[in-house]
Amino acid sequence: MNNAIITGASRGLGQALARTLVADGWRVVIDARTPADLDRAAGGLGPAAVAVPGDITVPAHRAALLAASARLGPLDLLVNNAGTLGPSPLPPVATLPVEALRELYEINVLAPLALAQAALPALRSAGGVLVSITSDAAVEPYPGWGGYGSAKAALERLTASLAAEEPAVTVWTVDPGDLRTRMHQQAFPGEDISDRPLPEAVAPGFATMLAKRPGSGRYRLADWLRP
Ligand SMILES: NC(=O)c1ccc[n+]([C@@H]2O[C@H](COP(=O)([O-])OP(=O)(O)OC[C@H]3O[C@@H](n4cnc5c(N)ncnc54)[C@H](OP(=O)(O)O)[C@@H]3O)[C@@H](O)[C@H]2O)c1
Repeated sequence: MNNAIITGASRGLGQALARTLVADGWRVVIDARTPADLDRAAGGLGPAAVAVPGDITVPAHRAALLAASARLGPLDLLVNNAGTLGPSPLPPVATLPVEALRELYEINVLAPLALAQAALPALRSAGGVLVSITSDAAVEPYPGWGGYGSAKAALERLTASLAAEEPAVTVWTVDPGDLRTRMHQQAFPGEDISDRPLPEAVAPGFATMLAKRPGSGRYRLADWLRP
């Protein structure tokens, strides 16, 4: 049986990825900061899910995630999915509070890097997969998206460097595309986002990636969905 850690799995993309993996026979360690939401998500996944509530920016919580995973067995997959959009409505860079940018980098860059660093020994020995969830805002300078986009750009570069440095681990940067989630609604407050796909619609693409195991690189989830 394969074991994964998926951060930010109480809702949205992380929850959809966890559901897809559990349906494929994986065991998952999942987290989120809000215990009630996480418990509800874990309950829906059944005994294959281990819920570890906490904040990925806290070192003791990251250690708890790895400890829970080690109790299951070898670590085959870490998905650094948890993230924040930052202020909503999205401010232009000219007025983006530096403190908000600091929090964006803490959650979207430094915490996933620290978790990846801590997980690498286990991932190396299992020949596992390390995933950073990114966004097209990392490469496109959409007005208002400079804070979030620059954090994702930093995460992408660190992930690409890990891919070059870690031959024993498969390292993917995965862009899920626009999704109908709470984060996306925060980016477009008051707007109708019902034309965006639900995360459940793209999660099967991730199962296909795991089955086909492409080499380290940057991938768009939509490209792995069967027509
Ligand atoms: N939705 C999109 O259109 C879109 C597009 C491109 C990329 N993405 C990326 O996809 C990923 C998931 O986004 P989403 O739209 O599914 O977001 P979401 O609906 O807001 O879900 C975010 C999840 O992460 C958890 N989380 C947030 N901060 C955390 C922290 N510091 N520690 C632990 N857990 C934390 C949240 O739970 P708590 O709040 O309870 O902690 C929640 O479970 C993110 O990396 C996002 O940047 C999303």
